[in-house]
Amino acid sequence: MTESLHTLHASVTDPTNNLTLGSSSDRSACYRCHPGATTKCLRGAMGKQSNIQCQSCHGDMNAVGAHGRQGWLEEPNCQACHQNALRYTEAVTNATTGTLRASLDSRFATNANTPSAGISMYRFSTGHGNMQCSACHGSTHAIYPSSHTEDNLQSIAVQGYAGTVAECTACHDSVPQTTTGGPHGMHSVGSTWVSAHKSAARNNLTSCQSCHGTDYRGSVLSKTPTSRSLNGKTFAAGHQIGCYDCHNGPSGD
Ligand code: HEC
Ligand code: HEC
Ligand code: HEC
Ligand code: HEC
Ligand code: HEC
Ligand code: HEC
Ligand code: HEC
Repeated sequence: MTESLHTLHASVTDPTNNLTLGSSSDRSACYRCHPGATTKCLRGAMGKQSNIQCQSCHGDMNAVGAHGRQGWLEEPNCQACHQNALRYTEAVTNATTGTLRASLDSRFATNANTPSAGISMYRFSTGHGNMQCSACHGSTHAIYPSSHTEDNLQSIAVQGYAGTVAECTACHDSVPQTTTGGPHGMHSVGSTWVSAHKSAARNNLTSCQSCHGTDYRGSVLSKTPTSRSLNGKTFAAGHQIGCYDCHNGPSGD
């Protein structure tokens, strides 16, 4: 069904822009059949980006309809873009074949061979605390924070603001003491970590680079998701925490 449907309609002309559905490079083509006009089925953190379209992840109509592709199972994944401390805007390396970028690291990856050999699906994968990925991120096309208010209600209810469920105390009674045991290898958060980070830094400074950046000045992976007061300073939500914020660089001097 998916093969016939997408292949046949690839050559159909959309009367609103005179492009064939197969040559269109944006979501308007897919929204002709998939819930679009009001539902906006693509509405999460990625969907809000004008440079990320359905085709950026799935490839175009011909790629979805490719003969031999296993529909409903061979889908895109997170690590095709979120790898090596980067965020690519294209999961496919070729939109007409739908070939996914190979992943260089598994920090933000879906589980291999899930739910079956050779398949790796977000919907079935689990991460920190053996919870579904979607417990902290929401569903595939509405990854927190979403442009629709309703999608954000759960994250607001458990931690007070919309976005990835990131507050340790949304689930734990108190912030657990750990250097790498949090989600995706995260350390503790807050004043207890300010006291504890020194020995972690002395023991394995280069491990801090994967999130705080190779220059230790912060990256998108060291953003504080909400305003925090740490060590007598206030950091605004979205501030990329670096090692120069409180002292002169990673040696702590
Ligand atoms: C002409 C109508 C139509 C258009 C246009 C369309 N789709 Fe679909 N799509 C469908 C239908 C119907 C199904 C369900 C097929 C089935 O039941 O197997 C589907 C299923 C899918 C699936 C799930 C099944 C699979 O193959 O994995 C994906 C992914 C998908 N479409 C992606 C897209 C993308 C991306 C676009 C735009 C480039 C698009 N579709 C445009 C009608 C359409
Ligand atoms: C096409 C590439 C691509 C794919 C595939 C992708 N992402 Fe993203 N993602 C991005 C980009 C680019 C950004 C940065 C968006 C921005 O600038 O706000 C992002 C941002 C995010 C954020 C941060 C949101 C915020 O506001 O801080 C989260 C969380 C996220 N993605 C989770 C996921 C998950 C989970 C998956 C898999 C289901 C996934 N991403 C798949 C490209 C992708
Ligand atoms: C940021 C990447 C990304 C974008 C953009 C994206 N998808 Fe998906 N899509 C996925 C992933 C990942 C899956 C597999 C989810 C899973 O593992 O369960 C998926 C699965 C699907 C499915 C199968 C059913 C389901 O919900 O799991 C359909 C249909 C689909 N996408 C259609 C679309 C359409 C239509 C658009 C544009 C309006 C779109 N997608 C945009 C990443 C994306
Ligand atoms: C307990 C909550 C939790 C679970 C479960 C979880 N994550 Fe995350 N995820 C987070 C947090 C918190 C961040 C932000 C990390 C950071 O900024 O360093 C994040 C960030 C991400 C990002 C975005 C990285 C970026 O560039 O901003 C992706 C992709 C991602 N997770 C994928 C997954 C996948 C795939 C799974 C399941 C295998 C999963 N997550 C399970 C909490 C979780
Ligand atoms: C969405 C809920 C959720 C969030 C948010 C969360 N955790 Fe957890 N965490 C769990 C669950 C569930 C377990 C597994 C508990 C078990 O197996 O008994 C767990 C287990 C742990 C463990 C293993 C030891 C233990 O206490 O059981 C550590 C360490 C940990 N989490 C640290 C963190 C840190 C640090 C953060 C914040 C950066 C965090 N977690 C955020 C749900 C969460
Ligand atoms: C998995 C990604 C990741 C790694 C690895 C990592 N950090 Fe962080 N770090 C973060 C994030 C995200 C924040 C912002 C947390 C927040 O405020 O919620 C942060 C914040 C901090 C803070 C400020 C305290 C706070 O609660 O905001 C210090 C200090 C810190 N990191 C030190 C380190 C040191 C030292 C290392 C290496 C031993 C390290 N980090 C490794 C992601 C990481
Ligand atoms: C929120 C503020 C804050 C941030 C951000 C921060 N530190 Fe610190 N750091 C401190 C404080 C406070 C001390 C203790 C200073 C003292 O004892 O005089 C310290 C001390 C240290 C020390 C010990 C220095 C010594 O005297 O031996 C090291 C190493 C260190 N930090 C590394 C890092 C690294 C690496 C980062 C970035 C990943 C980082 N710090 C980010 C507040 C911070």
